[in-house]
Amino acid sequence: MPSSLSVIRRLGNLLFRLLMVIYALEAEELAATRTAATTSVSIVNGTSSHKIAKEGCEDRCGNVMIPYPFGMGNSNCYRDVRFKISCNYSNNGPVALLNGDRYEALQITLEYVRINIFAPIHCGYGSNITNTSYVVSDIPFPVSNTSNKLTVLGCNIYGSVTVSLQTDQVDPSSAGLGDRFKGCPSRCDKHTAVPPSHCSGYGCCKTRIPNGLTSYTVQTSSLPVDTHDSTSYPCVRAFVIDREFSKIERLLSSKSDSFVPVILDWAINDVMTCKEAQTYHSSYACGRNSYCLESHSGPGYHCKCSKGYAGNPYLLDGCQDIDECNEPDKCGKDVICINTPGSYRCSCPPDMKLEIFELGNYCTPDEQRLLADQKNKRRLHNIVVIASSGIGGSIIVILLLAKSKEPIPLPWQ
Ligand SMILES: *[C@@H]1O[C@H](CO)[C@@H](O)[C@H](O)[C@H]1NC(C)=O
Ligand SMILES: *[C@@H]1O[C@H](CO)[C@@H](O)[C@H](O)[C@H]1NC(C)=O
Ligand SMILES: *[C@@H]1O[C@H](CO)[C@@H](O)[C@H](O)[C@H]1NC(C)=O
Ligand SMILES: *[C@@H]1O[C@H](CO)[C@@H](O)[C@H](O)[C@H]1NC(C)=O
Ligand SMILES: *[C@@H]1O[C@H](CO)[C@@H](O)[C@H](O)[C@H]1NC(C)=O
Repeated sequence: MPSSLSVIRRLGNLLFRLLMVIYALEAEELAATRTAATTSVSIVNGTSSHKIAKEGCEDRCGNVMIPYPFGMGNSNCYRDVRFKISCNYSNNGPVALLNGDRYEALQITLEYVRINIFAPIHCGYGSNITNTSYVVSDIPFPVSNTSNKLTVLGCNIYGSVTVSLQTDQVDPSSAGLGDRFKGCPSRCDKHTAVPPSHCSGYGCCKTRIPNGLTSYTVQTSSLPVDTHDSTSYPCVRAFVIDREFSKIERLLSSKSDSFVPVILDWAINDVMTCKEAQTYHSSYACGRNSYCLESHSGPGYHCKCSKGYAGNPYLLDGCQDIDECNEPDKCGKDVICINTPGSYRCSCPPDMKLEIFELGNYCTPDEQRLLADQKNKRRLHNIVVIASSGIGGSIIVILLLAKSKEPIPLPWQ
């Protein structure tokens, strides 16, 4: 009968389309997971600029970036007056000034502040030129004893730095002068090149500085010298300086007063310790996803972003999740990387299994899941076949066989 045959044909067509839709959906799902993985790897290059200043506050003065708790302008923009920066628009371009405009800030980071400190030089001939001294006072944060050195330039002099206590300060080191005084001798003989090209003990010496300096005296005094062995370099200069300052050679040969960079270890020091800070919630400086770290240069504490977060920990929401998946092949080649708050996961496409090796991870075909998947698919086919066998079995089964690469067990087998 032609009419019943066309009904069967139409039904078969319908079922075939249904099957293709199911296949297409499955394929799409698989493709979606892969594209999701590849796009997340290539979204950004990890330089997403984090906010460093408070909302509505200036975050730079000229080339100097100003991260909170430092700030300019409105008193809401900095934590307290110790962190206040004034930007002075002088003729030579903007200058960031710290502590009641006493010191120029060259660089402000979440760990340290680099400031300029005046370092006078004394040049001339005469018996009293080598004995010099000057005081540096009211530095807003302790001078880092690990990042700076005392440098002494001159012939046959002893240079030193001494903690000078401010009137309202208690001596932090009743342990003895050793902790409050550091110095080194700089000698010259006939063979010494002056000015020296580097600082090695002849014509120039350098040494460690006391810990926690906020006011200090720099002194030079002459050493007894064998006149037959003397040289004639007429300049004397001693200063505390950033130990990594790269232009020290230029300073050694210069004959004029200048400013030298010094690294300060700043800290939140309205309380002494982290424990104390955390008991006064309203004034605790560390924002979300961060932790507290004791300062080693003086009283106070620092904030750091927790592992997996980056940004400014002194802002409430400054520490932002790091998208580890931005790093190329973070999980391994062709392994899917999934970013999570503070961390990331490695994963494989549905029919693959993650193998973890020391040199990298791989996705390998998951035999068991493949088998399970095949079984599932077979069940699907069986349902279709059983459902249709009642009406016009043979035609539909032929269609299925033609369109499926997998062997399909027929219901009557
Ligand atoms: C990151 O991307 C930005 C713009 O997309 C570009 O200006 C910057 O140079 C890139 N940085 C690196 C390290 O590739
Ligand atoms: C600010 O700059 C002006 C020149 O523009 C200068 O005269 C003044 O001394 C500077 N202030 C400070 C505190 O350095
Ligand atoms: C010592 O220094 C003073 C002033 O600083 C100067 O007037 C005097 O001439 C110096 N004496 C010698 C011997 O150079
Ligand atoms: C320089 O200082 C040394 C040591 O303090 C001292 O012996 C010497 O007399 C001083 N010289 C002058 C000219 O003040
Ligand atoms: C800095 O000071 C600390 C504390 O006094 C001390 O333990 C450390 O050895 C010092 N480091 C240097 C390089 O002087």
